[in-house]
Amino acid sequence: MAAVDSFYLLYREIARSCNCYMEALALVGAWYTARKSITVVCDFYSLVRLHFIPRLVSRADLIKQYGRWAVVSGATDGIGRAYAEELASRGLNIVLISRNQEKLQMVAKDIADTYKVETDIIVADFSSGREIYDPIREALKDKDIGILVNNVAVFYPYPQYFTQVSEDKLWDIINVNIAAASLMVHIVLPGMVERKKGAVVTISSGSCCKPTPQLAAFSASKAYLDHFSRALQYEYASKGIFVQSLIPFYVATNMTTPGSFLHKCPWLVPSPKVYAHHAVSTLGISKRTTGYWSHSIQVLLRDFTLTLFVSLELEPFERVAPRRSIQFLFAQYMPEWLWVWGANILNRSLRKEALSCKA
Ligand SMILES: NC(=O)c1ccc[n+]([C@@H]2O[C@H](COP(=O)([O-])OP(=O)(O)OC[C@H]3O[C@@H](n4cnc5c(N)ncnc54)[C@H](OP(=O)(O)O)[C@@H]3O)[C@@H](O)[C@H]2O)c1
Repeated sequence: MAAVDSFYLLYREIARSCNCYMEALALVGAWYTARKSITVVCDFYSLVRLHFIPRLVSRADLIKQYGRWAVVSGATDGIGRAYAEELASRGLNIVLISRNQEKLQMVAKDIADTYKVETDIIVADFSSGREIYDPIREALKDKDIGILVNNVAVFYPYPQYFTQVSEDKLWDIINVNIAAASLMVHIVLPGMVERKKGAVVTISSGSCCKPTPQLAAFSASKAYLDHFSRALQYEYASKGIFVQSLIPFYVATNMTTPGSFLHKCPWLVPSPKVYAHHAVSTLGISKRTTGYWSHSIQVLLRDFTLTLFVSLELEPFERVAPRRSIQFLFAQYMPEWLWVWGANILNRSLRKEALSCKA
Protein backbone atom coordinates (compact mmCIF):
# COMPACT_ATOMS: atom_id res chain seq x y z
CA MET A 1 0.00 0.00 0.00
CA ALA A 2 1.38 3.44 -0.91
CA ALA A 3 2.15 5.71 2.00
CA VAL A 4 0.73 9.22 1.97
CA ASP A 5 3.46 11.57 3.09
CA SER A 6 1.82 14.86 2.19
CA PHE A 7 -1.79 15.72 2.69
CA TYR A 8 -1.47 18.59 0.21
CA LEU A 9 -0.27 16.23 -2.55
CA LEU A 10 -3.10 13.82 -1.83
CA TYR A 11 -5.65 16.65 -1.91
CA ARG A 12 -4.25 17.92 -5.22
CA GLU A 13 -4.45 14.46 -6.77
CA ILE A 14 -8.05 13.95 -5.62
CA ALA A 15 -9.06 17.47 -6.74
CA ARG A 16 -7.49 16.92 -10.16
CA SER A 17 -9.25 13.60 -10.72
CA CYS A 18 -12.59 15.01 -9.46
CA ASN A 19 -12.36 18.26 -11.37
CA CYS A 20 -14.93 17.38 -14.01
CA TYR A 21 -17.39 16.12 -11.34
CA MET A 22 -16.96 19.36 -9.40
CA GLU A 23 -17.66 21.38 -12.49
CA ALA A 24 -20.72 19.30 -13.30
CA LEU A 25 -21.99 19.76 -9.73
CA ALA A 26 -21.32 23.50 -9.90
CA LEU A 27 -23.33 23.67 -13.12
CA VAL A 28 -26.24 21.78 -11.54
CA GLY A 29 -26.09 24.15 -8.54
CA ALA A 30 -26.03 27.23 -10.76
CA TRP A 31 -28.93 25.93 -12.84
CA TYR A 32 -30.96 25.13 -9.70
CA THR A 33 -30.27 28.52 -8.11
CA ALA A 34 -31.08 30.40 -11.33
CA ARG A 35 -34.32 28.47 -11.76
CA LYS A 36 -35.42 29.09 -8.19
CA SER A 37 -34.49 32.77 -8.40
CA ILE A 38 -36.50 33.19 -11.59
CA THR A 39 -39.41 31.39 -9.94
CA VAL A 40 -39.34 33.69 -6.92
CA VAL A 41 -39.17 36.80 -9.15
CA CYS A 42 -42.09 35.48 -11.23
CA ASP A 43 -44.06 34.84 -8.05
CA PHE A 44 -43.56 38.38 -6.82
CA TYR A 45 -44.60 39.67 -10.24
CA SER A 46 -47.69 37.42 -10.09
CA LEU A 47 -48.45 38.65 -6.60
CA VAL A 48 -48.33 42.27 -7.73
CA ARG A 49 -50.38 41.42 -10.79
CA LEU A 50 -53.07 39.68 -8.78
CA HIS A 51 -53.28 41.77 -5.63
CA PHE A 52 -52.22 45.29 -6.59
CA ILE A 53 -52.75 46.00 -10.29
CA PRO A 54 -56.50 45.13 -10.31
CA ARG A 55 -56.95 47.69 -7.52
CA LEU A 56 -55.20 50.43 -9.51
CA VAL A 57 -57.12 49.97 -12.74
CA SER A 58 -60.86 50.57 -12.90
CA ARG A 59 -62.94 47.95 -11.07
CA ALA A 60 -64.44 45.12 -13.11
CA ASP A 61 -68.16 45.42 -13.81
CA LEU A 62 -69.32 42.35 -11.90
CA ILE A 63 -72.97 42.79 -12.91
CA LYS A 64 -72.09 42.72 -16.61
CA GLN A 65 -69.60 39.93 -16.09
CA TYR A 66 -71.76 37.62 -13.97
CA GLY A 67 -75.27 38.90 -13.28
CA ARG A 68 -77.34 41.11 -11.01
CA TRP A 69 -77.77 38.93 -7.91
CA ALA A 70 -75.28 37.34 -5.55
CA VAL A 71 -76.05 34.71 -2.88
CA VAL A 72 -73.83 34.52 0.20
CA SER A 73 -74.16 31.71 2.73
CA GLY A 74 -73.23 32.57 6.32
CA ALA A 75 -73.72 36.24 5.51
CA THR A 76 -74.42 37.87 8.87
CA ASP A 77 -70.92 37.90 10.28
CA GLY A 78 -67.24 37.79 9.48
CA ILE A 79 -66.00 37.20 5.96
CA GLY A 80 -69.49 36.38 4.61
CA ARG A 81 -70.95 39.69 5.68
CA ALA A 82 -67.91 41.65 4.50
CA TYR A 83 -67.96 39.85 1.15
CA ALA A 84 -71.68 40.60 0.75
CA GLU A 85 -71.03 44.29 1.51
CA GLU A 86 -68.16 44.44 -0.95
CA LEU A 87 -70.34 42.95 -3.70
CA ALA A 88 -73.15 45.35 -2.80
CA SER A 89 -70.68 48.26 -3.04
CA ARG A 90 -70.22 47.19 -6.65
CA GLY A 91 -73.97 47.36 -7.27
CA LEU A 92 -75.01 43.73 -6.92
CA ASN A 93 -78.24 42.77 -5.18
CA ILE A 94 -77.63 40.33 -2.36
CA VAL A 95 -79.41 37.28 -1.00
CA LEU A 96 -78.17 36.57 2.51
CA ILE A 97 -78.47 33.14 4.10
CA SER A 98 -77.91 32.39 7.79
CA ARG A 99 -79.72 30.93 10.80
CA ASN A 100 -80.82 34.00 12.69
CA GLN A 101 -83.77 35.92 11.20
CA GLU A 102 -83.29 39.11 13.22
CA LYS A 103 -79.61 39.32 12.41
CA LEU A 104 -80.37 38.66 8.75
CA GLN A 105 -82.98 41.42 8.64
CA MET A 106 -80.64 43.85 10.34
CA VAL A 107 -77.71 43.12 8.02
CA ALA A 108 -79.95 43.11 4.91
CA LYS A 109 -81.38 46.52 5.82
CA ASP A 110 -77.96 47.88 6.58
CA ILE A 111 -76.62 46.75 3.19
CA ALA A 112 -79.71 47.99 1.30
CA ASP A 113 -79.54 51.43 2.97
CA THR A 114 -75.79 51.85 2.61
CA TYR A 115 -75.33 50.66 -0.95
CA LYS A 116 -78.80 51.30 -2.43
CA VAL A 117 -79.21 47.75 -3.68
CA GLU A 118 -81.95 45.17 -3.23
CA THR A 119 -81.48 42.53 -0.59
CA ASP A 120 -83.33 39.38 0.31
CA ILE A 121 -82.90 36.93 3.15
CA ILE A 122 -83.28 33.19 3.57
CA VAL A 123 -83.34 31.73 7.05
CA ALA A 124 -81.69 28.33 6.96
CA ASP A 125 -79.62 26.23 9.29
CA PHE A 126 -77.22 24.26 7.11
CA SER A 127 -76.62 21.79 9.91
CA SER A 128 -80.23 20.58 9.61
CA GLY A 129 -79.67 18.33 6.63
CA ARG A 130 -81.41 17.94 3.30
CA GLU A 131 -84.83 19.41 4.07
CA ILE A 132 -83.57 23.02 3.94
CA TYR A 133 -82.58 22.89 0.27
CA ASP A 134 -86.04 22.76 -1.34
CA PRO A 135 -87.09 26.04 0.32
CA ILE A 136 -83.77 27.60 -0.73
CA ARG A 137 -84.28 26.43 -4.32
CA GLU A 138 -87.81 27.85 -4.24
CA ALA A 139 -86.64 31.21 -2.84
CA LEU A 140 -83.95 31.57 -5.53
CA LYS A 141 -85.91 30.33 -8.51
CA ASP A 142 -86.96 33.75 -9.88
CA LYS A 143 -83.60 35.39 -9.42
CA ASP A 144 -80.77 35.41 -11.92
CA ILE A 145 -77.99 34.43 -9.61
CA GLY A 146 -74.69 35.67 -11.02
CA ILE A 147 -72.41 34.96 -8.06
CA LEU A 148 -72.63 32.26 -5.42
CA VAL A 149 -70.39 32.61 -2.38
CA ASN A 150 -70.09 29.39 -0.41
CA ASN A 151 -68.85 30.93 2.80
CA VAL A 152 -70.64 29.16 5.64
CA ALA A 153 -68.60 26.78 7.77
CA VAL A 154 -68.31 25.55 11.32
CA PHE A 155 -65.02 25.27 13.14
CA TYR A 156 -63.91 23.54 16.32
CA PRO A 157 -64.31 25.63 19.49
CA TYR A 158 -60.48 25.42 19.52
CA PRO A 159 -57.95 22.97 18.02
CA GLN A 160 -58.65 19.51 19.44
CA TYR A 161 -57.62 15.91 19.02
CA PHE A 162 -60.18 13.98 16.99
CA THR A 163 -61.70 11.94 19.83
CA GLN A 164 -62.25 15.10 21.87
CA VAL A 165 -64.47 16.59 19.14
CA SER A 166 -68.13 15.92 19.86
CA GLU A 167 -70.20 13.77 17.51
CA ASP A 168 -72.53 16.73 16.92
CA LYS A 169 -69.65 18.92 15.83
CA LEU A 170 -68.38 16.26 13.43
CA TRP A 171 -71.84 15.90 11.92
CA ASP A 172 -72.08 19.70 11.55
CA ILE A 173 -68.73 19.84 9.82
CA ILE A 174 -69.98 17.36 7.25
CA ASN A 175 -73.37 19.02 6.79
CA VAL A 176 -72.30 22.64 6.90
CA ASN A 177 -68.80 22.62 5.43
CA ILE A 178 -69.23 19.93 2.79
CA ALA A 179 -72.91 19.37 1.98
CA ALA A 180 -73.95 23.03 1.96
CA ALA A 181 -71.45 24.09 -0.72
CA SER A 182 -72.18 21.04 -2.88
CA LEU A 183 -75.95 21.45 -2.76
CA MET A 184 -75.90 25.24 -3.16
CA VAL A 185 -73.85 24.80 -6.33
CA HIS A 186 -76.30 22.15 -7.48
CA ILE A 187 -79.13 24.65 -7.03
CA VAL A 188 -77.64 27.71 -8.77
CA LEU A 189 -75.29 26.29 -11.39
CA PRO A 190 -77.96 25.16 -13.93
CA GLY A 191 -79.24 28.76 -14.20
CA MET A 192 -75.70 30.09 -14.66
CA VAL A 193 -74.98 27.52 -17.35
CA GLU A 194 -78.20 28.48 -19.13
CA ARG A 195 -77.20 32.16 -19.08
CA LYS A 196 -73.61 31.20 -19.98
CA LYS A 197 -72.18 33.33 -17.19
CA GLY A 198 -71.70 33.21 -13.45
CA ALA A 199 -69.14 32.82 -10.70
CA VAL A 200 -68.92 30.35 -7.84
CA VAL A 201 -66.60 31.33 -4.99
CA THR A 202 -65.97 28.69 -2.36
CA ILE A 203 -64.13 29.65 0.78
CA SER A 204 -61.76 26.95 1.84
CA SER A 205 -58.94 27.51 4.33
CA GLY A 206 -55.16 27.46 4.58
CA SER A 207 -55.54 24.25 6.56
CA CYS A 208 -56.72 22.46 3.40
CA CYS A 209 -53.40 21.99 1.70
CA LYS A 210 -51.87 19.44 4.04
CA PRO A 211 -53.29 17.14 6.71
CA THR A 212 -53.50 19.41 9.77
CA PRO A 213 -53.32 17.71 13.17
CA GLN A 214 -55.71 18.96 15.86
CA LEU A 215 -58.02 20.15 13.06
CA ALA A 216 -58.37 16.78 11.31
CA ALA A 217 -62.06 16.88 10.28
CA PHE A 218 -62.08 20.61 9.61
CA SER A 219 -58.99 20.60 7.41
CA ALA A 220 -60.28 17.53 5.54
CA SER A 221 -63.61 19.28 4.89
CA LYS A 222 -61.74 22.29 3.50
CA ALA A 223 -59.63 20.04 1.29
CA TYR A 224 -62.89 18.70 -0.11
CA LEU A 225 -64.00 22.25 -0.96
CA ASP A 226 -60.70 23.06 -2.63
CA HIS A 227 -60.74 19.93 -4.79
CA PHE A 228 -64.43 20.37 -5.50
CA SER A 229 -63.89 23.95 -6.78
CA ARG A 230 -60.91 23.04 -8.91
CA ALA A 231 -62.73 20.13 -10.50
CA LEU A 232 -65.81 22.31 -11.13
CA GLN A 233 -63.60 24.91 -12.81
CA TYR A 234 -62.40 22.23 -15.22
CA GLU A 235 -65.96 21.08 -15.86
CA TYR A 236 -67.63 24.46 -16.30
CA ALA A 237 -65.03 27.04 -17.43
CA SER A 238 -65.85 26.31 -21.05
CA LYS A 239 -69.52 27.06 -20.29
CA GLY A 240 -68.74 30.60 -19.16
CA ILE A 241 -68.62 29.89 -15.42
CA PHE A 242 -65.74 31.12 -13.27
CA VAL A 243 -65.08 28.93 -10.24
CA GLN A 244 -62.74 30.20 -7.56
CA SER A 245 -61.25 28.37 -4.61
CA LEU A 246 -60.53 31.05 -2.04
CA ILE A 247 -58.02 29.90 0.55
CA PRO A 248 -57.61 32.43 3.36
CA PHE A 249 -55.18 32.16 6.20
CA TYR A 250 -56.23 33.80 9.46
CA VAL A 251 -58.79 36.61 9.30
CA ALA A 252 -59.93 38.48 12.42
CA THR A 253 -63.44 37.07 12.86
CA ASN A 254 -65.33 35.25 15.61
CA MET A 255 -63.93 32.01 14.22
CA THR A 256 -60.43 33.01 15.33
CA THR A 257 -61.38 33.73 18.97
CA PRO A 258 -61.58 37.49 19.48
CA GLY A 259 -58.88 38.60 21.91
CA SER A 260 -56.52 35.92 20.65
CA PHE A 261 -52.97 36.96 19.74
CA LEU A 262 -54.03 36.43 16.12
CA HIS A 263 -56.21 39.53 16.30
CA LYS A 264 -53.23 41.64 17.31
CA CYS A 265 -51.40 41.58 13.99
CA PRO A 266 -53.63 43.19 11.35
CA TRP A 267 -50.85 42.99 8.79
CA LEU A 268 -50.94 39.19 8.93
CA VAL A 269 -54.53 38.77 10.11
CA PRO A 270 -56.67 41.35 8.29
CA SER A 271 -60.15 42.43 9.28
CA PRO A 272 -62.95 40.74 7.30
CA LYS A 273 -63.64 44.05 5.50
CA VAL A 274 -60.05 44.43 4.33
CA TYR A 275 -59.88 40.76 3.41
CA ALA A 276 -63.13 40.85 1.40
CA HIS A 277 -62.07 44.01 -0.42
CA HIS A 278 -58.92 42.29 -1.64
CA ALA A 279 -60.57 38.93 -2.27
CA VAL A 280 -63.31 40.38 -4.48
CA SER A 281 -60.68 42.12 -6.62
CA THR A 282 -59.24 38.67 -7.47
CA LEU A 283 -62.61 37.45 -8.77
CA GLY A 284 -62.34 36.53 -12.43
CA ILE A 285 -58.53 36.71 -12.29
CA SER A 286 -57.36 33.81 -10.15
CA LYS A 287 -59.17 30.54 -9.79
CA ARG A 288 -57.18 29.56 -6.71
CA THR A 289 -55.88 32.21 -4.38
CA THR A 290 -55.42 33.16 -0.76
CA GLY A 291 -57.30 36.35 -1.69
CA TYR A 292 -55.02 38.64 0.32
CA TRP A 293 -51.55 39.92 -0.51
CA SER A 294 -50.00 39.37 2.91
CA HIS A 295 -51.30 35.82 3.00
CA SER A 296 -49.65 35.31 -0.38
CA ILE A 297 -46.43 36.92 0.85
CA GLN A 298 -46.44 34.59 3.84
CA VAL A 299 -46.61 31.77 1.36
CA LEU A 300 -43.92 33.27 -0.84
CA LEU A 301 -41.56 33.98 2.04
CA ARG A 302 -42.02 30.49 3.30
CA ASP A 303 -41.29 29.24 -0.15
CA PHE A 304 -38.22 31.46 -0.50
CA THR A 305 -36.81 30.40 2.86
CA LEU A 306 -37.45 26.79 2.06
CA THR A 307 -35.75 27.20 -1.28
CA LEU A 308 -32.64 28.30 0.56
CA PHE A 309 -32.65 25.41 2.99
CA VAL A 310 -34.44 22.55 1.38
CA SER A 311 -33.02 21.07 -1.77
CA LEU A 312 -36.21 19.44 -2.95
CA GLU A 313 -36.86 19.26 -6.63
CA LEU A 314 -40.61 19.32 -7.14
CA GLU A 315 -43.03 20.27 -9.84
CA PRO A 316 -43.19 23.98 -10.63
CA PHE A 317 -46.18 25.61 -8.97
CA GLU A 318 -49.05 27.30 -10.69
CA ARG A 319 -48.83 31.00 -11.46
CA VAL A 320 -51.41 33.69 -11.11
CA ALA A 321 -52.88 34.12 -14.51
CA PRO A 322 -56.32 33.94 -15.99
CA ARG A 323 -55.63 30.32 -16.84
CA ARG A 324 -53.47 29.25 -13.92
CA SER A 325 -53.16 30.55 -10.40
CA ILE A 326 -50.29 30.98 -7.99
CA GLN A 327 -51.26 30.30 -4.45
CA PHE A 328 -50.55 27.49 -2.14
CA LEU A 329 -47.03 27.13 -3.23
CA PHE A 330 -46.26 25.54 0.05
CA ALA A 331 -48.59 22.68 -0.84
CA GLN A 332 -45.94 21.73 -3.34
CA TYR A 333 -42.87 22.99 -1.51
CA MET A 334 -43.29 22.53 2.19
CA PRO A 335 -42.37 19.08 3.41
CA GLU A 336 -45.29 17.53 5.27
CA TRP A 337 -43.26 17.01 8.48
CA LEU A 338 -42.56 20.74 8.64
CA TRP A 339 -46.21 21.64 8.10
CA VAL A 340 -47.36 19.15 10.76
CA TRP A 341 -44.71 20.37 13.20
CA GLY A 342 -45.77 24.02 12.73
CA ALA A 343 -49.49 23.17 12.89
CA ASN A 344 -49.00 21.22 16.11
CA ILE A 345 -47.19 24.12 17.78
CA LEU A 346 -49.70 26.74 16.63
CA ASN A 347 -52.78 24.66 17.44
CA ARG A 348 -51.44 23.67 20.86
CA SER A 349 -50.94 27.32 21.77
CA LEU A 350 -54.37 28.29 20.39
CA ARG A 351 -56.01 25.52 22.45
CA LYS A 352 -54.10 26.58 25.55
CA GLU A 353 -55.14 30.19 25.02
CA ALA A 354 -58.81 29.25 24.41
CA LEU A 355 -58.90 27.02 27.51
CA SER A 356 -57.29 29.67 29.70
CA CYS A 357 -59.84 32.25 28.43
CA LYS A 358 -62.63 29.79 29.32
CA ALA A 359 -61.27 29.13 32.82
N1 LIG B 1 -61.69 33.52 10.08
C1 LIG B 1 -60.62 32.90 9.61
O1 LIG B 1 -59.49 33.07 10.09
C2 LIG B 1 -60.77 31.95 8.47
C3 LIG B 1 -59.58 31.38 7.93
C4 LIG B 1 -59.71 30.51 6.88
C5 LIG B 1 -60.95 30.22 6.36
N2 LIG B 1 -62.07 30.78 6.89
C6 LIG B 1 -63.36 30.43 6.30
O2 LIG B 1 -64.10 31.60 6.01
C7 LIG B 1 -65.49 31.33 6.12
C8 LIG B 1 -66.14 32.36 7.03
O3 LIG B 1 -65.54 32.31 8.29
P1 LIG B 1 -65.75 33.47 9.36
O4 LIG B 1 -64.54 33.46 10.20
O5 LIG B 1 -66.17 34.70 8.69
O6 LIG B 1 -66.99 32.86 10.23
P2 LIG B 1 -67.90 33.59 11.31
O7 LIG B 1 -67.44 34.97 11.60
O8 LIG B 1 -68.03 32.62 12.45
O9 LIG B 1 -69.33 33.69 10.58
C9 LIG B 1 -70.03 32.53 10.25
C10 LIG B 1 -71.30 32.91 9.54
O10 LIG B 1 -71.98 31.71 9.20
C11 LIG B 1 -73.29 31.70 9.78
N3 LIG B 1 -73.56 30.33 10.20
C12 LIG B 1 -72.86 29.60 11.08
N4 LIG B 1 -73.39 28.37 11.21
C13 LIG B 1 -74.43 28.33 10.34
C14 LIG B 1 -75.37 27.34 10.01
N5 LIG B 1 -75.35 26.13 10.58
N6 LIG B 1 -76.31 27.61 9.09
C15 LIG B 1 -76.36 28.83 8.51
N7 LIG B 1 -75.50 29.82 8.78
C16 LIG B 1 -74.55 29.57 9.69
C17 LIG B 1 -73.23 32.69 10.93
O11 LIG B 1 -74.47 33.33 11.14
P3 LIG B 1 -75.57 32.87 12.22
O12 LIG B 1 -74.78 32.45 13.43
O13 LIG B 1 -76.42 34.06 12.40
O14 LIG B 1 -76.27 31.74 11.57
C18 LIG B 1 -72.25 33.72 10.38
O15 LIG B 1 -72.93 34.63 9.55
C19 LIG B 1 -65.59 29.90 6.64
O16 LIG B 1 -65.78 29.05 5.55
C20 LIG B 1 -64.25 29.66 7.27
O17 LIG B 1 -63.90 28.30 7.32
C21 LIG B 1 -62.00 31.64 7.94
